Amino acid sequence: MCGIVGFIGNKEKKDVVLSGLKELEYRGYDSAGMAVLNDEEIRYFKAVGKLENLANKMQDESFLGFGVAIGHTRWATHGKPTEINAHPHLGEHSFVVHNGIIENYAELKDELIKEGVHFASQTDTEVIVHLFELNLKQGLDAKSAWEATIARLRGAYATLLISKTAPGVIFFAKDAAPLAIAKDSAGEIFFASSDAALIGVAKEVLYLEDKSHGFASLGEIKIYSANGEIKPAFTALPPDKSYAQKEGYRYFMEKEIYEQSSVIADALMGRIKGSEVVLEGVSDELLGEIDEIILCACGTSYHAALVAGYLFERVARVRCKIAIASEFRYSEPVLNERSLFIAISQSGETADTLEALKIAKAANLKSLAICNVDNSSMVRLADASLLTRAGIEKGVASTKAFATQIITLWLFVLRLASFKGTLRGEALEREITAIKHIPSVLNIGNELQEKIRRISKHYLHGHGFFFIGRDVFYPLALEGALKLKEISYLHAEGYPAGEMKHGPIALADERLFCVVLMPKNLLYEKVKSNAQELAARDANILAISPDEFELSDDFIRTSAQTHYMAEFFEMMMVLQIFALEVSIRLGNDVDMPRNLAKSVTVE
Ligand code: F6R
Repeated sequence: MCGIVGFIGNKEKKDVVLSGLKELEYRGYDSAGMAVLNDEEIRYFKAVGKLENLANKMQDESFLGFGVAIGHTRWATHGKPTEINAHPHLGEHSFVVHNGIIENYAELKDELIKEGVHFASQTDTEVIVHLFELNLKQGLDAKSAWEATIARLRGAYATLLISKTAPGVIFFAKDAAPLAIAKDSAGEIFFASSDAALIGVAKEVLYLEDKSHGFASLGEIKIYSANGEIKPAFTALPPDKSYAQKEGYRYFMEKEIYEQSSVIADALMGRIKGSEVVLEGVSDELLGEIDEIILCACGTSYHAALVAGYLFERVARVRCKIAIASEFRYSEPVLNERSLFIAISQSGETADTLEALKIAKAANLKSLAICNVDNSSMVRLADASLLTRAGIEKGVASTKAFATQIITLWLFVLRLASFKGTLRGEALEREITAIKHIPSVLNIGNELQEKIRRISKHYLHGHGFFFIGRDVFYPLALEGALKLKEISYLHAEGYPAGEMKHGPIALADERLFCVVLMPKNLLYEKVKSNAQELAARDANILAISPDEFELSDDFIRTSAQTHYMAEFFEMMMVLQIFALEVSIRLGNDVDMPRNLAKSVTVE
């Protein structure tokens, strides 16, 4: 979600770090900072907002000559996007930057405070630099102090540290967050959390493995894994920058579809302890006051609300209303002060949802924003907020934002259900196991996309699409239809499978395409008979299911799962790829479809 860079060499360090960060800015930009160590003097700079604010602050600075530098662009997870919370974090004579989440930071922080350490920020990252300096104070040399520090960290990290005690050295470590080291032809050394920042700058790269750490200085890079020292093996970097930003994918939307496994892992990180869900900012007091939930959003976020509505009622046994924000605003709703109003929005700026949130606040409802952008208008306005941690979504058609909204809402449902006692013991553990399993469900290989690509050629004409499903697969059908509409410009509707016979089935003929979501763990037989009714009227059936449907014209097999939400997420990815492949065949601009905007700040 954040971006980090590092440099050891003679070039102008300000330029190297700022241009590296610029390439990573698309991952998050609520604040940025850098630290430079030249001739045993360390200087640092931080600024809130876009990277240009940091560049402006540093416009009169220059750092030529040999030295080391580290930089960071931040997308807040712990602590607000303020200058104090921006990286690098400082100790007495060392600085650190970090991507990821240190899950045991609270425990480490308590220990350090007992040792007399003073903390300036609210971040988890700051523990790294203080732990390192405490290890030095206790007599370890810099390399051993770094190793002892890394040994204490739990969670995910890609981290770089520089210190006056070891000028000319960058200490690094990586586990479950990306980090690469690169070299140019002069042997100068670069670090980055994505090779987007290295392409065009360095010649060769080494992608560090999980649970590795080490030290780099000009002419020497030492890398260690749990099994001892590793011989560095560098490979050539590709020369093309635009290829790098998309990480080899043809479109940002395609990249974002495949990122879903890792952003869902980010959204879960630090929020499950054993079989307990721990959500920052969601207190027992807030939960104790709830006897109804109102979910309100627009577009794809509204579909996430519909999915969550089923979960709130089924799992947490709380009454739930779901509203489209533009309708809610003018419907003169009767509101009850014991309802929790949840606004769901990727951007946090959608005018209709923001106004709906204001109406709820004016009626004295407690409010929660489920949002991807910290410090957005909705996050600032709501009583509490949960960030979805999807990172910046560049494709106009939302994919990973939707996936992380549902995960965050599901976490909230589990937190509420265990607070209310509607879910406990083995049943709670089953849900926790299921939600933790989702990142691996979404680790899908190329064969599936290849299969969908081949099938997609059958769906370029005809007189329209119905996507159908039941329960949570009904809002997924709505979302599949919306994705297809947005980027292919073909007419598509989502419908509850059981509702087709009440009218729309009149449209069924050999030119009607029906995409049928047939999960095995939820109402399989019911959807199957709805699909049979359509097949009997000669409609074209594309069935998506773990079990082959004998009447289908095309069939996409999903994996056998034991929880319907695992099937949900896999089918979500199938539908996203289906829309993408149809759109590509039709020659459309996948990332910037006509007539649409990423953030809709008008009514
Ligand atoms: C569809 C899409 C839109 C948004 C909607 C709400 O792919 O992206 O339907 O979901 O405009 O936007 P947010 O979530 O920013 O409030």
